[in-house]
Amino acid sequence: MLSHDYEYGSILETSVRVNWKLEDVIGRRTFDYSLPFLPEALAGVSAIRCLSDAEKLKLNQIRGFTYLAMFGLVEEYIVPSVLDHVRTGDRSDDHEVRALLHFAEEETKHIQLFKWFVREFERGFGTPCGVIGPASDIAAGILDHSPLGVFLTTLQIEWMTQKHYLESVKETKEGLDPLFRSLLKHHWMEESQHAKLDTSTTTWTSARCSTAGCRLRSSSTWRASRKPSAGGWRTRRRPRSERPNSRPTAGRFS
Ligand SMILES: [Fe+2]
Ligand SMILES: [Fe+2]
Repeated sequence: MLSHDYEYGSILETSVRVNWKLEDVIGRRTFDYSLPFLPEALAGVSAIRCLSDAEKLKLNQIRGFTYLAMFGLVEEYIVPSVLDHVRTGDRSDDHEVRALLHFAEEETKHIQLFKWFVREFERGFGTPCGVIGPASDIAAGILDHSPLGVFLTTLQIEWMTQKHYLESVKETKEGLDPLFRSLLKHHWMEESQHAKLDTSTTTWTSARCSTAGCRLRSSSTWRASRKPSAGGWRTRRRPRSERPNSRPTAGRFS
């Protein structure tokens, strides 16, 4: 059982206060490819003896690319999972509803930020780097699991973000690329609230499972899907022919 004293009203107040705009972070800036992107603690390239210093720098930047691209990828499933929770959960606390909708809006903004980053990296790095995907298929696979499993996965990612930034990035004296460092900082600022919200959501979901039971694939009728031209995500209901005979909707429990 998780133990915490997080309160939706204060989390919402903080999230509104630290909220930033995409243009404030990106501006007209770009990356300095003569500098590493990630601290060595996260990149882990210095001990690779077969690489020259120039190759280690390249690999560091590839690791940085992978790091942010993966965040953008997983956030594609986090957004619909949070919206499903708002739709099907207890909506008696207005602060909770607002905080969770704000959470979803911020993650959608992060997806936009990381898409910009991928485009900018591919333009400036000189060599294309592949990423697993498509994100919509990975999101659908994750959302096919129980709400508790989905939120526990998110919880691990949210707290990992906190640990990585606070222990490896914030105080490092390594001369990281300033823009990449700024992306990590701004993401961490908003993720600080997400980690608390996800802890609360996971606690509620766990308690609900304990009392009402929790089906293994409670979100199987909802899939993340991408509009080809809009560039954003949306959830769509599976065609009736694809649905199992008896199943709860996303976030609901038997
Ligand atoms: Fe995020
Ligand atoms: Fe997040």
